[in-house]
Amino acid sequence: MLANPSTRPYYLPAPQGSWHRVRPQRFTIVQIVLVGLPLLGGCTRQRAAMPDRSSAAAPALSGPTDSLIPSGPLGAAIQRGRALLVATRESLPDHVGNGLRCTSCHLDAGRRQAFGSWVGVYARYPQYRARSATVETIEYRVNDCFRRSMNGKPLALDGAEMRDIVAYLWFLSRDLPIAPPPAGNRLQQWAALTADTAAGAAVYATTCVKCHGLDGQGTAVAPPLWGPKSYNVGAGMTRVRTAAAFIRENMPFDQPGTLTDQQAFDVAAQVSAHPRPDFPDKINDWPNGDAPPDVAYPTLAARRKSPAAPARAHAP
Ligand code: HEC
Ligand code: HEC
Repeated sequence: MLANPSTRPYYLPAPQGSWHRVRPQRFTIVQIVLVGLPLLGGCTRQRAAMPDRSSAAAPALSGPTDSLIPSGPLGAAIQRGRALLVATRESLPDHVGNGLRCTSCHLDAGRRQAFGSWVGVYARYPQYRARSATVETIEYRVNDCFRRSMNGKPLALDGAEMRDIVAYLWFLSRDLPIAPPPAGNRLQQWAALTADTAAGAAVYATTCVKCHGLDGQGTAVAPPLWGPKSYNVGAGMTRVRTAAAFIRENMPFDQPGTLTDQQAFDVAAQVSAHPRPDFPDKINDWPNGDAPPDVAYPTLAARRKSPAAPARAHAP
């Protein structure tokens, strides 16, 4: 089912060294639950329909209950959209170039109340994003993940597949207000930490290897984290802060929330330091030269801003 991962070149990002060290923050489970409370408004209405996930080990889900999916053609589109997102490679082999599915990172079909949730996303688009320096539609954003996170090819904007995926995302935003994304940078908290990839390798060996494999290529129970079948270098997950936020809230899969911030950051840096498929278009990202500091690849705009910096600092 893999399109052509082996034909793509690898890319190895340079080590990151510009963060200063402070004492790692530690959050208790109670704090994590409290931080999540503002989001709970969207899920209280489905409590009766969902299994009780209130214990610390069981991650909370959100979004409207499935019983609100209408019957008829709209409901069929919503269900089909969800099926495409969950069985992406099987359903859309020409558009997926790696060993992932959309819900490898957007857990529980996007309902996991944690980093990567799709609940409320539809209501935040169209949205200006600095990576493209354009106002992006939800369809554009979906295709961004096809091209980068799935190392694949975009869907036709006017096709049935895109329509049905958007129908499912629309459903997950049901009853939520249309509003711009919250101000502020959610990833800023990671700026205070310094990554230690040796410590990250130790976390990987004790906590991740049993599912993701010794060589990060995945196993029967978990998808790859690096190598030819992983997300490409242009994917958000390649950014150390983004990966740290995802891992902190979602991994280890069987015990999410058990890593400290420092452990999540270290193992994210360790994962991100491995080779993965290249994304040649990355050179055009952040055309206004405002790439975040954890983006490990050079862009044309950054070179224009500081001509001393080579356009390709690292071998592709
Ligand atoms: C390798 C992990 C990964 C995979 C696989 C993946 N995504 Fe994403 N996706 C991300 C990350 C990381 C973000 C940014 C999340 C954030 O900033 O909150 C994101 C963001 C999004 C957003 C916008 C969310 C927002 O809040 O603006 C949408 C929509 C989306 N992905 C859809 C998809 C679809 C559809 C697929 C499958 C074609 C997919 N993703 C596959 C990692 C992934
Ligand atoms: C019990 C098995 C298990 C453990 C332990 C585990 N994971 Fe995962 N991980 C998964 C599964 C399963 C998924 C995909 C979920 C899905 O498809 O529904 C996943 C998804 C991921 C993803 C996004 C998809 C991808 O492959 O890129 C990342 C990143 C990740 N895990 C990192 C980690 C890290 C880092 C650790 C250790 C701290 C870890 N995981 C521990 C099972 C596990």
